[in-house]
Amino acid sequence: MTIIFIMDGEETTSEEGKTLLEAARDRGKDVPTICFHDATTANALCRICVVEVEGMRVLQPACIVQAASNMKVQTHSEKVDRARKTILEMLASTMDLSEAGEIQTMMNEYDVDVNRFPDAERREVPLKDDNPMYVRDYSKCLLCWRCVQVCADDAQFTYAINFTGRGYETQIGTFFEKTIPETTCVLCGQCVGVCPTGALKPKREYLLEQGMSPQEISVLNTGRKRRKST
Ligand code: SF4
Ligand code: FES
Repeated sequence: MTIIFIMDGEETTSEEGKTLLEAARDRGKDVPTICFHDATTANALCRICVVEVEGMRVLQPACIVQAASNMKVQTHSEKVDRARKTILEMLASTMDLSEAGEIQTMMNEYDVDVNRFPDAERREVPLKDDNPMYVRDYSKCLLCWRCVQVCADDAQFTYAINFTGRGYETQIGTFFEKTIPETTCVLCGQCVGVCPTGALKPKREYLLEQGMSPQEISVLNTGRKRRKST
């Protein structure tokens, strides 16, 4: 069924069941997302996609709220843009976004002050290098949950990683802090593919960044030198 509603002052049609994010993107509107990924179930964790819906007391996450008849939606307003800017400023104050290219672009668009919360405690944890496929640097993790979702019901059904801890201590980890080879992980790499921040990185890329040559990495992987091609 087709529904009619108002988005940014214009009459808009959408299919029943579509989210405000889908309706906005169908019309070429730019609504930023971080935790949302086409391959995963939307959970509305980051709130960067919030929009203003007339009659609703608080801003609504466009990635899960469905368009409804007669709704009046603002995808950009002073309140919306201020909320997005604040979310980005909180992220910038608490974690390493140096390899989060899309988020850096958002930070420029929303004129983010990276020093707005100078007393914020940063997430700084040692890098985990415990398997041949990828490294985990949770100082760069914003808990978007994409990796957990593709490891579970959205793709691989492996359940090797999940949230651990509570409140400020919440992070992504394995059961009982086991190393990756001790878990059910099959090294499919799907988690690395959906990570938006570089917290999960292919081991080869990491070693190249550390200054190792491709040949040294090859020796490390195979335990022997590659034969020279003739
Ligand atoms: S490791 Fe990456 S994909 Fe997983 S929750 Fe953190 S930022 Fe998201
Ligand atoms: S993208 Fe909608 S809440 Fe994260």
